[in-house]
Amino acid sequence: MRTTQDQAIHLKNYKEPEYRIGTVDLDIDLHPNKTRVKSKLSVIRQKNVTKDTPLILDGDELKLISVSLNGKLLSGDDFHETQTELTIKKLPKSAKFELEIETEIDPTANTKLMGLYRSGGNYCTQCEAEGFRRITYFLDRPDVLAVYTTRLEAHKSENPVLLGNGNPVKKGSAGKGRHYAIWHDPHPKPSYLFALVGGDLGSIHKPFKTLSGRKVKLGIYVEKGKENSADYAMDALIRSMKWDENVFDCEYDLDVFNIVAVSDFNMGAMENKGLNIFNDKYVLGDPETATDAEYSNIEGIIAHEYFHNWTGNRITCRDWFQLCLKEGLTVYRDQEFSSDERSRPVKRIADVRGLKASQFPEDAGPLAHAVRPETYREINNFYTATVYQKGAELIRMLATIIGEQKFKKGIDLYFKRHDGDAATIEEFLKCFEQAAKVDLSQFALWYSQAGTPLLNVSSKYNKSKQTFILEFEQITPSTPGQKRKLPVYIPQRIGLIGSNSNDMKATKVVGAEFKDDVLHLTKRKHKVTFSGINERPVFSLNRGFTAPIEVDYRQSPSDLAFLAANDADTFSRWQAYQNYASKLLLAGYRAVLANKTMKIDAKFLDISKDTLLDESLEPAYRATILSLPSEGDLAQIIGKNVNPDAIAKSLSVLKTALGEIFEPERNKVLNSLKSSDSFNASAAEAGKRSLRSLLMAYAVASKSKSALKDVVSNYKKSNNMTDRFNALRTIVNYHPTKTARDKALADFYKRYTHPTPKPECFGVI
Ligand code: BES
Ligand code: ZN
Repeated sequence: MRTTQDQAIHLKNYKEPEYRIGTVDLDIDLHPNKTRVKSKLSVIRQKNVTKDTPLILDGDELKLISVSLNGKLLSGDDFHETQTELTIKKLPKSAKFELEIETEIDPTANTKLMGLYRSGGNYCTQCEAEGFRRITYFLDRPDVLAVYTTRLEAHKSENPVLLGNGNPVKKGSAGKGRHYAIWHDPHPKPSYLFALVGGDLGSIHKPFKTLSGRKVKLGIYVEKGKENSADYAMDALIRSMKWDENVFDCEYDLDVFNIVAVSDFNMGAMENKGLNIFNDKYVLGDPETATDAEYSNIEGIIAHEYFHNWTGNRITCRDWFQLCLKEGLTVYRDQEFSSDERSRPVKRIADVRGLKASQFPEDAGPLAHAVRPETYREINNFYTATVYQKGAELIRMLATIIGEQKFKKGIDLYFKRHDGDAATIEEFLKCFEQAAKVDLSQFALWYSQAGTPLLNVSSKYNKSKQTFILEFEQITPSTPGQKRKLPVYIPQRIGLIGSNSNDMKATKVVGAEFKDDVLHLTKRKHKVTFSGINERPVFSLNRGFTAPIEVDYRQSPSDLAFLAANDADTFSRWQAYQNYASKLLLAGYRAVLANKTMKIDAKFLDISKDTLLDESLEPAYRATILSLPSEGDLAQIIGKNVNPDAIAKSLSVLKTALGEIFEPERNKVLNSLKSSDSFNASAAEAGKRSLRSLLMAYAVASKSKSALKDVVSNYKKSNNMTDRFNALRTIVNYHPTKTARDKALADFYKRYTHPTPKPECFGVI
């Protein structure tokens, strides 16, 4: 059945709200099946809106008890109630009036996990994007900002913890075994940032002092008994708060900041003002069960939700089409945070891999859509890789195009100008146009045009003229609903590398703007001539993955090898090594299929060994670069009729060869990567663990006798999940002895088998 709700919503039809809400006073009486919600709204009719314009509030699965207007109970004739709306028809002349609405909801029956729900005895909320209407009737749209005061009441022994947005004001007994807490949030916010929690939870607390001296009480609430596993999250929160002050001049703005971790949560985490709610897998981390990847995830997500306090909460989105305004920008900010806290090159490589694995296919498929779409039916389906990841790439590209300093000026202006606003992408870009004194109208196409542009590149070196000529042509493929595409603004950080492996400087560049190693490609085609180039350079392009594009440039095998060994740009060096390895592995794959032996390229092995031994490179980066393309990566290149066994064989032959060439140096390198006896989740230690594990995997693949013994003892003596799981994986994948494999698996199974889960572990149903 098609209801009006199923109709598509269009950006071009955006209309400002006719009514706004100044303050919201909520009184929520928590009860498993009959939660009473009393809401008092101060409503303001906007200029040029007549009193005959009805006030239409959103609602969903609410039981209406009563409506009063300016203190007078309304009768059924004065309002109209449908499944999705409450319309107040007769309104007073004065532009301001007070509306009181009482509704009843059933949090236990709420299995959509949207609005207020009860799970494992705890009450919690999720209101983004349109969940607040499942708590009370409201103008549930992000451009209606109000100041909220919330009184919560619940059974004291069942729900001793009562949390809301903003600052705690008062708490006390409410009689009959019940108690209450009042919270006030002075910052106007949209309804999707509303939250409450009522539960029996354990907590940890730390003080934080902001740059300007505000004392903030930080709290993390978890299931009782799990408090110790929240220390890492608390540390990540404190580091996030400091980082945002140092890098973006963003300070926290309330007296408390709370995070609640619950096991039933559809999303990863949610940035409710002053009260972030997390799926507990992104909060709880202890060495016995969390891997380094999980620690880094916890850190990144804690940071992401915290950073929303400015990019999302203080400045929110005018409408849901502008979702990338908060999500793309906040992903960019959390990427930068992780780059500063951990290894910048490794983080960049991981982000690009993620983008190519999820966003590129989305952009090439039937669901391709612009970073800022122009129409949607269901907003929940638009929290996509394109909005988030490509959205973050656009911010990064903007910083590249205008330069770091002007980017900072632009973002400062955005924070200053739009604090307290519900903004749009146009308003955001205008700040950068004004701060950097540039025209970003072509850049803005990235927000409206879907599809991954392809950049075809060819080069020619002219020895007698000492010129290096590059020809570029960009094509953005058609996507559903967007047949023809305009050329987009593509920045390209490049290098012309000389035989001494240094980047060469041209005396003159014509054909495109070239500044600080960045070429600015704005036309469909460019022919760019670099003069004063006295030897044939090796060309390195899309350095740092400057633009989210596909590049077609045919590198000769020797140039690829050169870049894999010498490119000063750590991203492009990794890319070259990967491309080089892929070529060998695909040749190996074909050899395996043809029943021939796979040829091993000595040059590749040499480069790999030099990379391993290069102590100027951090261990995490060495581990990343030396990790060969995965089975999946190779299958994607092969495309059709993939033979997984042949891929595995090809990979194992190359790993064996790497294991053999590393063998003489293995113990020396392993010794340089030693950790102290007690576990430390730091990025530096995680980097060492990953390189140690890679070395062991290749050594075991090559059947080194000592490695076969060492890996088993590593498994046994490991004091953390990362080391133990890595050893297990190596044993299972490469150990030639079946008993060794079986024993390790049986041990792992025994160690980590959860006692039979209780039925309530399966969610709220
Ligand atoms: N605002 C979102 C949470 C959200 C997602 C609400 C979808 C409604 C629908 C939050 O900031 C977010 O983006 N969370 C991510 C994790 C983040 C690190 C990318 C999530 O929940 O997956
Ligand atoms: Zn987010």
